[in-house]
Parts: sequence; structure tokens; C-alpha cells
Amino acid sequence: MPLSMPSSGPRPPQAGSGHSGPGSDAVRSELADLAREIVACRRCPLGHTRTNAVVYRGSPAPRIVFVGEAPGAEEDRLGVPFVGRSGSILDTAIARLGLAPSEFGILNILKCRPPANKFDRAAAETCRPYLDRQLALLRPNLLVSLGASALRALDPFAPSVMKAAGAPRSAPGGTLFPLVHPAATLRSRRMKERWERDLGTLAKRLGTAVV
Ligand code: URA
Repeated sequence: MPLSMPSSGPRPPQAGSGHSGPGSDAVRSELADLAREIVACRRCPLGHTRTNAVVYRGSPAPRIVFVGEAPGAEEDRLGVPFVGRSGSILDTAIARLGLAPSEFGILNILKCRPPANKFDRAAAETCRPYLDRQLALLRPNLLVSLGASALRALDPFAPSVMKAAGAPRSAPGGTLFPLVHPAATLRSRRMKERWERDLGTLAKRLGTAVV
């Protein structure tokens, strides 16, 4: 299904061109260097308790980047973001939005699993340069935050996630479309309805339909 992004200016050169545009060889190589740095990071206590650092999955030249909070148990085990229950909800949503693999990427604010899955704000500050460098290399047109902590990290002045979700906003890193966290849809029918409603709004913005 075709996807038309709102502010998609020219993005070439693309993969293999040797230039430094999104997806170019130079960007891929910098992303790989950055991933190695993250995997070796021990700058905060989470680096000592994790099994694997969790860096990124998706396109090297995404139009949309989904930003979660922190790896959970399954992500920590496999070193890949959103591969547990939340991941299957997110993957289903992405498929329903009609996004092709080349169009999106998925990462987290925290690259290491916090004990008891409790979001760690101090660790998020230490980890922040990695996120900023990832986004500077990936250069998406749109960020989609998943959950309250991701929203707060990307837009410290945003209202609560229940107020902000479902409407695009101007954030320091570019246009941000907040969603509730996919795991919240497992907790209540109200959150599931909210997720569905906001996905529909996101689809409209992308020029697609939720199927
Ligand atoms: N929840 C998140 O926020 N991120 C993951 O990678 C998995 C679950």
C-alpha cells in the first residue's frame, strides 16, 4: 500500500550511493559503529545487569521511527527491540498501517533492560546521546512515541500521554505522534479502544487506512 508522508522532502541519495544521505553506505557504517558502542556501553548500572543491549530494528532510512521505553525480558534475551508481547501488538499495528519494511524503524529510549522493567530516568539521561545520534543518522520524518516515558523523553513539555496521544505535535526532535504503549491495550478495553482510535488518526496522517 502506498504511503505518502506529510513533510517528505527529497531524501536521496539512498543505499549504496556512497554519499551521506539517509541509508547511504556512510550512514550504515556509522549506524554499525554506533551499535558496537552501545553494545559495549557500561556507563550506567543497567549496563551491568542486562543480558544484551537492545539497539534497533528496521530500515537504515526509515520515514517513521517508533520509540519505545525500554527493553523487556524477551528483548533483553534476544537483543532486539519489541519482540515480546508488546512487539507482536506493534508489528500487527505496523502491518495494518501498510508500512513496508523499508519505511520504518523501532528503537527504545533505554538501550538496556531496567530491573523489574521500571523505567529509569537517570539511566535515560546517560543513554540519551545514543538516541540522539541514532535519530540524527536515521533522519525520520515522523517519530511515534509509545507510552508515557517515551513521550516525556521526546517532549518534556507534553501533557499526559492520555491527553497527548493521537495528535501530532511539534517536539524538539521534529514532528512527534504520541501513542499509548501497546502493552496498555492488554490491560483494559478502554486502552485498546484508545489504541485503535489513535492508530486510525495516524493512518489518516500517513495517507493509509488501518485494515
Ligand atoms: N516495551 C518497550 O517499550 N520496548 C520494548 O522493546 C519492549 C517492550
